[in-house]
This record gives sequence, C-alpha cells and structure tokens, in this order.
Amino acid sequence: MFWRRAGETMTKANLAMMEKLQITEGDITLLDVDAIVNAANETLLGGGGVDGAIHRAAGSKLLEACRALGGCATGSAKMTAGYELKARHVIHTPGPVWRDGTVNEEAQLASCYRRCLEIAGEHQLKTITFPAISTGVYRFPIALAAAIAVSTVAETLKTIPEIETVIFVCFNEESAAAHRTAFEAICADVPSSASGLAPDG
Ligand code: APR
Repeated sequence: MFWRRAGETMTKANLAMMEKLQITEGDITLLDVDAIVNAANETLLGGGGVDGAIHRAAGSKLLEACRALGGCATGSAKMTAGYELKARHVIHTPGPVWRDGTVNEEAQLASCYRRCLEIAGEHQLKTITFPAISTGVYRFPIALAAAIAVSTVAETLKTIPEIETVIFVCFNEESAAAHRTAFEAICADVPSSASGLAPDG
C-alpha cells in the first residue's frame, strides 16, 4: 500500500505505538478528551456533518473563536477551546474535497492528520480523537481515507511520543470496518515467525 513501507518489520517500538490507537463507533461531540478534531472547511465558520455537530454542541463561543482565526488552508489545522463540549480543545482541519485522486488529495488528507497531531504535541495533549475526515460531504473514498488516516497517525506518533491515545471515532459501521482493516494491514507487517521483538518481547 502506498501508505505503508513494504516489508517494514514491526519493531517493539512500532507495536507500542500501535497500542496507542483505538477505533470506535459513536458521536465525537460526546467525548471527554483533550481534543476532538473537526472536519471543517477553509472558512472555519461551520457547516453540516461533524462540523455542524461540533459547533452545535460547543455553543456560539466556538464560532466567535473561529471567526478570529481567519480561516485555515486545506491540510493545515488550527486549535480552539472546546467551550460547552466535554473536550478541552477542538482542532479544526479542512480536509481535501475528493476529485479523482490526481490533484494531491491523498497528501492533503495525510497532512490533516499529521498537523493535528503536531498541534496536540505542541500543547502537551495526551488524548486526541479524529472523525473520518473528508469521507462525508467531501466524498473521499472511505477505504483509502482510512488507510491514509491510520498510516499517517502511526507514522507521526513515532515522532510525538507524548501523545498517549488516538481514537478514530467512526459514525457508522462501514467507516469503523474500514479503519479496522487499515489497522490490521499495518499490524500484518509483523512476520509470522517472530514479531520482530527482542527476545523478551
Ligand atoms: N461524530 C463523528 N463522526 C461524525 C459525526 C459525529 N457527530 N457527524 C458526522 N460524522 C462523520 C461522517 O459520517 C463522515 O464519516 O464525519 C465524517 C466526515 O464527514 P463530514 O462531516 O461531511 O466532513 P467532510 O467530508 O470532511 O466534509 C467537510 O462538510 O460539514 C461540512 O463544513 C464542513 O464544508 C465542510 C465539509
């Protein structure tokens, strides 16, 4: 897979990092975590889908805070407080609109996940949760989006060890299954004979 280096042996460090990942079904606005990620648009002024749900749950102060941010480029991310949400922070990231896979959509989606984790690391956040960015209104194919999401998070977490937990919060079974498949594909790198662990592993 484009998003996984073929044949990379799963080391003890990689396995420890994979244990930080969780996949669940549910409503991201209900989670009591350090940060929830919002699949926003470049205006950051709200919309439908998870963006609308987050703004409704956070209250009007979130929109006021977003207005002051002056927008956000696709693939980048900006953070606000969570206001009336249980989550302490919201990290807003505009994902790419899926065209046909030839206008850098995959790299832009990867950048969303990477930048959100970098911001979480810069603010010493421990638990961050992602919706399936770009897979709703923006029509990104779910299997490919999930593969990019899990691979990019797994790769980025190696450089930000302070983050303890990343939860992919899927809104339906299809999305959850796609993320589980992506997760299993990465873990399948572990050679059947040995897990690439040191003898005590
Ligand atoms: N919790 C978790 N996931 C959710 C929730 C929720 N409460 N509501 C929707 N989702 C899921 C959708 O099912 C989809 O899998 O979030 C994923 C992203 O879908 P969208 O919210 O449509 O976001 P996206 O495809 O990135 O399109 C962004 O839509 O809402 C507007 O302002 C937003 O213009 C932006 C565009």
